[in-house]
Amino acid sequence: MTIGLLTSGGDAPGMNAAIRSVTRSAIARGFKVIGIRRGYQGLLEGDMYELGARDVSDILHRGGTMLYTARSKEFATPDGVRKAKEVLDSAGIDSLIVIGGDGTYRGALDLSRLGVRCIGIPGTIDNDIVCTEYTIGFDTAQNTALEMLDKLKDTEMSHNRCSVVEVMGRKAGHIGVRVAAATGAIDCLTVERPYDLDEICQKIIEQKNAGKSHFELIVAEGVVSKDFTSDDIAKYIEAKTGVTSRATVLGHVQRGGSPTCYDRVMALKMGYYAVELLSNGISNRIVAVRNDKLVDFDIEEALKMQKGYDEKLHSVLRILSI
Ligand code: F6P
Repeated sequence: MTIGLLTSGGDAPGMNAAIRSVTRSAIARGFKVIGIRRGYQGLLEGDMYELGARDVSDILHRGGTMLYTARSKEFATPDGVRKAKEVLDSAGIDSLIVIGGDGTYRGALDLSRLGVRCIGIPGTIDNDIVCTEYTIGFDTAQNTALEMLDKLKDTEMSHNRCSVVEVMGRKAGHIGVRVAAATGAIDCLTVERPYDLDEICQKIIEQKNAGKSHFELIVAEGVVSKDFTSDDIAKYIEAKTGVTSRATVLGHVQRGGSPTCYDRVMALKMGYYAVELLSNGISNRIVAVRNDKLVDFDIEEALKMQKGYDEKLHSVLRILSI
């Protein structure tokens, strides 16, 4: 078996650990691994090379992806998919392991319809892949965001301010709700749950009158737009409550850094599991975590599932912020 391996979409800490795991698990079974640079775009351009066990040395602890990543417009067309299949055929690649998010799996589904044996590994800091409770990179990203929040808390306490902190998550508030709970924020604005900014301002006023001197409000990226920025939210809060407010957008810093132990171990397990599936003749599956166990789902079915949101955690963090 010759396995193509690529990372696609936004990078996530732990992708390198997954690359190492796939490569060495495959070599241990006597399979050949071809690393494809820059995701599906690199595939279309034939940008690939054989990976040996030593090629993936000393990457476990590094963020980013040694295979680079990209979002390809050309691959998203029927002609692009056909061309990708031709490139795979001419390179002798019969199987493909893709590490990324939903967009990455859609590509794998298209290729699987043309006969490529595909397996998806969930890798995105957003943890927004529907079929799985966990995606590689989420733990590192939430800890990076939390570290920044702790630093902000120092200055916001000194100045008796409100910090409005925007965290990543274009379509999901999973990082937002976790770090809001972990930092003791007054609330968290997410796309999953309706919010009332006036009600939050009222809560700030009541708490200020009761002696609380500083506040954090977490905003998940998906909530803001160019007409409603985190800065606008901070200004609104300041005008309504009289508490000086500052907005901070954490941005891409959340995507970098050395992966946590949890992310490395998850990446290792998922990479091994993906190769095991192919080795057992199983393909067109996404590796997933359910109840702390590794399982796998048909790609097409997985893409139709609905992702849960930790409503309970959101409710509890609001109750505790008194
Ligand atoms: O990978 C997910 C993510 O980090 C989102 O949270 C964010 O909206 C998006 O990627 C940013 O993408 P880009 O790096 O392409 O601007």
